[in-house]
Amino acid sequence: MDYDDARGERPRLLVVANRLPVSAKRTGENSWSLEMSPGGLVSGLLGITSQFDTKWVGWPGVDVHDEIEKNALTESLAEMKCIPVFLNGVFDQYYNGYCNGILWPILHHMGLPQEDQHDTNQTFETQYDAYKKANRMFLDVIIDNYEEGDIVWCHDYHLMFLPQYLKEYNNKIKVGWFLHSPFPSSEVYKTLPSRSELLRAILAADLLGFHTYDFARHFLSTCTRILGVEGTHEGVVYQGRVTRVAVFPIGIDPDRFIRTCKLPEVTQQMNELQEKFAGKKVILGVDRLDMIKGIPQKYLAFEKFLEENPYWRDKVVLVQIAVPTRNDVPEYRKLKSQVHGLVGRINGRFGSVSSLPIHHLDCSVDFNYLCAIYAIADVMLVTSLRDGMNLVSYEFVACQEAKKGVLVLSEFAGAGQSLGVGALIVNPWDVTEVSSAIKEALNMPAEERETRHRSNFQYVCTHSAEKWGLDFMSELNGIIPESEMQMRK
Ligand code: G6P
Repeated sequence: MDYDDARGERPRLLVVANRLPVSAKRTGENSWSLEMSPGGLVSGLLGITSQFDTKWVGWPGVDVHDEIEKNALTESLAEMKCIPVFLNGVFDQYYNGYCNGILWPILHHMGLPQEDQHDTNQTFETQYDAYKKANRMFLDVIIDNYEEGDIVWCHDYHLMFLPQYLKEYNNKIKVGWFLHSPFPSSEVYKTLPSRSELLRAILAADLLGFHTYDFARHFLSTCTRILGVEGTHEGVVYQGRVTRVAVFPIGIDPDRFIRTCKLPEVTQQMNELQEKFAGKKVILGVDRLDMIKGIPQKYLAFEKFLEENPYWRDKVVLVQIAVPTRNDVPEYRKLKSQVHGLVGRINGRFGSVSSLPIHHLDCSVDFNYLCAIYAIADVMLVTSLRDGMNLVSYEFVACQEAKKGVLVLSEFAGAGQSLGVGALIVNPWDVTEVSSAIKEALNMPAEERETRHRSNFQYVCTHSAEKWGLDFMSELNGIIPESEMQMRK
């Protein structure tokens, strides 16, 4: 489909997300180095940029107070089509507090944490206020850059007020909102103190997108139970207007992974890794060190596996890359010590002077190395307790054309629905089940591995990030905003 507008120009699209796809590092006075981080969102927009004149709006990853420095950074970012939102004064309570201390656990079925009784400056209320202020700061930057006809695509739980604020500013703006995390059951969502305001705010959008049918269904029933509105096949009818609700499962850019695995320096890294782990099967985990990823549960299952299968003790290694994340949120710091305790215990029980069963790394690795380790792994272990999609499982599949390793995947990750035929699907809370799946994966005959891999690979290649972005934009672009409908009547 072609999106050329009446003037024959590409329509403008503003993609708004908490984090810009570029991270800024100070290199000196008024000078910055900018690095592109090509995650799911960036890949998703690869296909769109040929059809839409796209700009990003988001937080640049650093606090900048000085006006001259802000201008210098804004200019550098402009070359990469990025527009910064400086969240000075609200960042901590907005990002660490409301987004990641309250919304994130609720959306992932972890429940509302206890409010800190001792710090009256950091209450649910002050964090909620900071959240709204931050959303207004995004709005202000959008207004400064908005041109008539621009489409605005808002991303994720950080920006739930933005659709409402945008429509209040100008109800002709076409607004989409996509949730990259799960949407919980209404019974869990209902515990959120500001539950109705947030729902109303996102319902102001023209199109709401979710990764899976289940998340969309949870959202619709939550709207019914909390706001008393009915979901139809089109979406939600609220206060006389329809908000489309639809499912768009995100993917990756598979070619980037396939290409990288063929680079000489990457095959060299693969050889080195294979040599290092010679005589052993490699089980791999790659996760942000987040409660939702179920890393402690993964370690408990692996411990059970070693306990019950002495044959495998010196023939298998679990390499876990645990990427540090959100270190200023107390729950994440607690998780880190818990995980370190488990690694110590398991390595102490089953290790020897020459070999350790778990290689736990508190760091990220560069892209080439990541592809090399994906490619040499025999088993990938994804035990998310709840996860929007989990693209790590897709990345593993894309890198496994030669080896055809086995994916053990949580049924609570969005990917559990898309890769359900090829993967061994597990309940991550059930350590006995995960331990048995590890054994099954390690013993799986080559023919079955081939068949399962084929099915996964086919899915990952046909459901790319690019397709996701184009599908969402095609749907959003086809919607006639309410304001225009009224004019046509
Ligand atoms: C999840 C969220 C994203 C977020 C990412 C990394 O995938 O859905 O919106 O960017 O985690 O988390 P961070 O807090 O570091 O941006």
